[in-house]
Amino acid sequence: MSATTGGDTPSWEEALEAMQGCAACGLSRHRKNVVIYRGARRPRLLFLGEAPGAQEDESGFPFVGKAGQLLDRAIAELGLPADGYGITNVVMCHPPGNVFDPKAAVACRPWLELKLALLAPEVIVTLGGRALRALEPTSGRPLAEAGRPRSWRGRPLYPMLHPAATFRRRAFRDQWDRDLERLRSMVDQWMPGFLSCSPIPPRGSAPVGSPPSSVAFK
Ligand code: URA
Repeated sequence: MSATTGGDTPSWEEALEAMQGCAACGLSRHRKNVVIYRGARRPRLLFLGEAPGAQEDESGFPFVGKAGQLLDRAIAELGLPADGYGITNVVMCHPPGNVFDPKAAVACRPWLELKLALLAPEVIVTLGGRALRALEPTSGRPLAEAGRPRSWRGRPLYPMLHPAATFRRRAFRDQWDRDLERLRSMVDQWMPGFLSCSPIPPRGSAPVGSPPSSVAFK
């Protein structure tokens, strides 16, 4: 099966098998694992990142490195239920040197569409400019777009900075924190009752709720 072949929509399991064997671009020659997805089978909210790093390539799961720790903390702080969210990337194979490869994004696009169709999230949160531009090619600079909700194919789309950006500048970390607070109130509007009701604690305090397991099923 290829993501571009017509016909019936495959099951999630069939799609996983096909994605594991993908050789649609040159990144497939260097990868250890195809990094497809982690999270709930029926996520209401989907985080969309850019491309896996070296740790994700090793493990086969998205966002398990340092940026993933920040994302997991944000998820815990938001109070997202474990069976309510998922995490994926625009590109499924680790680009050597972490250099984002636009050709790989084009080659991976049918798989992204298939994942979106099968997972059918109600809300999408993009992480970083490349994830946002994959869905909204005309969007502006990540810093200007972050925290400004819009609609994508009839569902809310909320852009955030890439978590890795927050390690580079204090101002990005502050923006991340502000955007997270806003996301919480937006999700409360979009999906009343979905989040646990504890407020986001001030930075530096312990995360609330139980930490999500580092990897869930694919
Ligand atoms: N950065 C991403 O965009 N995705 C990952 O999975 C890890 C880091």
